[in-house]
Amino acid sequence: MKHLQFTDEHGSFSIEQPENTSYLYFPLASEKGLKSSVTPNLGGDAKIDQETFLLEPVSAENLHNNRSVRNFWLVSDTGEIFSASGASAQQEASRFTELQDDSRITAGFMWHSMERISKSQSVRTVVTSFIPVNDNAEIMYITVRNLSDSAKVLIPFAAVPVYGRSADNIRDHRNVTSMLHRIRTESHGVLVRPTMSFDERGHRPNSMIYYVYGCSGAGEAPESFFPTVEEFLGEGGTYTHPRAVCERRTGVPSGSFAAGREAMGAFRFPEVHLAPGEEADYILILGAEDNRESISQIYEKYNTPDKVKKALDETKSWWREKVNTGFHTGDADFDRLMKWICFQPFLRRLFGCSFLPHHDYGRGGRGWRDLWQDCLSLLLMDPDGVGQMIEKNFGGVRIDGTNATIIGEGDGNFIADRNGIARVWMDHALWPQMTTKLYIDQTGDVEILNRKVPYFKDAQTCRGTQNDEQWDAGQGSLLRTKDGEIYTGSILEHLLVQQLTAFYEVGSHNIYRLRGADWNDALDMASERGESVAFTCAYAGNLRELASMIRLLESRSGEKEAVLPEELQILLNGDAGLFEDPDAKNALLADYTQSCRHQISGGHFSISLSVLADDLERRAGWLTGYLREQEWIDGGADEGWFNSYYDNHGRAVEGFFPNEVRMMLTGQVFSIMGNVASDEQIRRITASADHYLYRKEIGGYRLNTDFHELKFDMGRMFGFAYGEKENGAVFSHMTVMYANALYRRGFAKEGWKALKTLAETALDFDTSRIYPGIPEYFRSDGRGMYHYLTGAASWFMLTMITQVFGVRGEAGDLIFAPRLMGEQFDSQGKASVSLVFAGKQLEVIYENPEHKDSGEYTISSAACEGYRLQTDSAGYAVLPRKVLDGFSGDHLRVTVTLN
Ligand code: G1P
Repeated sequence: MKHLQFTDEHGSFSIEQPENTSYLYFPLASEKGLKSSVTPNLGGDAKIDQETFLLEPVSAENLHNNRSVRNFWLVSDTGEIFSASGASAQQEASRFTELQDDSRITAGFMWHSMERISKSQSVRTVVTSFIPVNDNAEIMYITVRNLSDSAKVLIPFAAVPVYGRSADNIRDHRNVTSMLHRIRTESHGVLVRPTMSFDERGHRPNSMIYYVYGCSGAGEAPESFFPTVEEFLGEGGTYTHPRAVCERRTGVPSGSFAAGREAMGAFRFPEVHLAPGEEADYILILGAEDNRESISQIYEKYNTPDKVKKALDETKSWWREKVNTGFHTGDADFDRLMKWICFQPFLRRLFGCSFLPHHDYGRGGRGWRDLWQDCLSLLLMDPDGVGQMIEKNFGGVRIDGTNATIIGEGDGNFIADRNGIARVWMDHALWPQMTTKLYIDQTGDVEILNRKVPYFKDAQTCRGTQNDEQWDAGQGSLLRTKDGEIYTGSILEHLLVQQLTAFYEVGSHNIYRLRGADWNDALDMASERGESVAFTCAYAGNLRELASMIRLLESRSGEKEAVLPEELQILLNGDAGLFEDPDAKNALLADYTQSCRHQISGGHFSISLSVLADDLERRAGWLTGYLREQEWIDGGADEGWFNSYYDNHGRAVEGFFPNEVRMMLTGQVFSIMGNVASDEQIRRITASADHYLYRKEIGGYRLNTDFHELKFDMGRMFGFAYGEKENGAVFSHMTVMYANALYRRGFAKEGWKALKTLAETALDFDTSRIYPGIPEYFRSDGRGMYHYLTGAASWFMLTMITQVFGVRGEAGDLIFAPRLMGEQFDSQGKASVSLVFAGKQLEVIYENPEHKDSGEYTISSAACEGYRLQTDSAGYAVLPRKVLDGFSGDHLRVTVTLN
């Protein structure tokens, strides 16, 4: 029997004895801010933000170490003890023996249900946890059934430790901050209100109230309370053997007060009498609110089983509807995995890159890359408002082509760096353009390029190499002209600034400098002489695509010219001699950044759009030739690949070294995606990637071979054990981008191999040991790590829709360019995708009765609601936007026959 089984087409799944697998966790969250992780024993944590942790913050090692879980205890009149969470000393001791409880988790988007049957006590409990969409409350709905054939008398105890403070205090003054706690018991639970937010830089009064409330399904309130950890555990007691429970103690009454202790949301319910087969139910509500009144309102909202069940149903359907993309292929489990992958971008939006047990870093914000990646998946699932989001995000670009990296709440709220020179990631300028391109393709709104947006301004200037002493925060974080006016420029101008400044910032090999790092955050020790060939390739692709966007603007809008700030003129120097000369490039860039160091003049010049596009294409062409010539490593026979980096000693990092072959995936991905690699080179790259990087059993393509060296001249990644994270793991995001690049270049079989291996490993629970979804990476033994919060999910989805199914916008029209392999069709030869495009829900069905592979079929006919689609010069079926907009219905079906 498989360990993990899907239970419906929405991806809901169940797994038996989940506590026998380590490090499992499941995310729950609301749109309002509460974010939780739940383990098979109901461990994990819950928080609103870094400062506001309801439950004690956990990292991965706490998942098996901590016993301070959300617990619900039952004690029989004969003194037998049972934890519905499975977290009692007895249940732990019986694990892996025949006395172990039968347990099962069933879960779907934002709900988690844990069933547990005690063999010795003939009791069955189910604890269903969820967070309603618009509240900051975690609800636990608990049912208790008597499975024996005699009546039972049970005393239930709820027990949830309340941490109630900032994650920083886990180490910084944990004990002192417990002294701030003021704890009250009320008729339905325990309230904890710390007197202040502890911060030695400036303590602040606190108004946040943390609480655990409860009642029985029949409406009974708890009868007594244990508001502190010490009262609940008792002297010498533990979380798996609490004396309050074991000794059936009576706690303090409602209306009691405690102070200066670790708080406990624990209480004892009245005795319950259960006839054979009879069931009782309980509701626990845990959360945090900044006023007492809101807690009462929440309690009123969820204090009966009917209310809870209704809220649970609403929560389930809300998230199912959000994930409005679905796949049908020859592999139903793959399709269900895709549901989770399409759901993951929502999780990343809510959790940022922090706040799940592996993600024990950061303070919850989102990074620059994430902003743009989130937009990719939003464009595919929830496109309304993405245009405005993109516009606002461009406000984070500085006039020197770098960008703000401190990102506040809400769109377009970037925070000035006041503390000197911060890190510059050399890949950052790449992503905004990729997202803008997808936006234009999907919507046809090429006019977005003309929309005016300000530039970000702070003390960092000259691409993070100098401080602007003339700037002070009082001037605000927007670039001004010498007349003191806030300057705005078109999005096209922002893109040009980003792509052109990058073009000049080269190292001694005339390759774009690595600076603080590129996509690979862990290449952070080569800021002086390091160069990223990989991202130079990517930028070459960007220059070419920007040119095509400019040509589209010209043809669509009839405009002939762009008006740009006069400072930019020198960046358009097209002298071929200059291209070849790194020193001259650096000097030119310095002239430019000095000219706009503090402000810009406000003067303009005009340039013809076609001249501009020609200029960019020339740069892309030059880079392509240069990279192909200089960076290609001949791998012998039919192999070869691109060197991806230069280290801080200026040495190429890849090739044939005395003791090993050094190859990295990143350089291959972007040379393919950026159209730098020729088709012949791609063939050789894929052969080398298969030779040196592919390990099917752990997810497929690893990020690099083992360098067997610490390489302090490259980055922290070489300090990681080989196979962990950025050092040679199967890093999902890069593998997916590899697949994406291969598909774009027509290498569908190779691209599918990369995606399929990832998916198969994720779904192989015995190897990956994760719930369905794509993890950030698979380590060397195949375990899925850093589950859920990864940009790989957006890219996987993007690749499946726009490349594998080939359903994508092209300047607003919808095209169908399938690259599915024969095995991806079901037994009837059908494969379909449902998705939103241009405000309509579309179902696109491909028919391939002979199960031909990509490359063997062409489109023989295509129709949408009676309209016959034409094919374009590339053989793709096209649904013009005008026709699409003309259909009256909101649900359309497109059928494409392949032959
Ligand atoms: C994570 C980071 C991402 C970074 C990558 C490689 O990847 O979030 O910004 O580029 O590591 O260092 P993720 O899987 O979350 O996309």
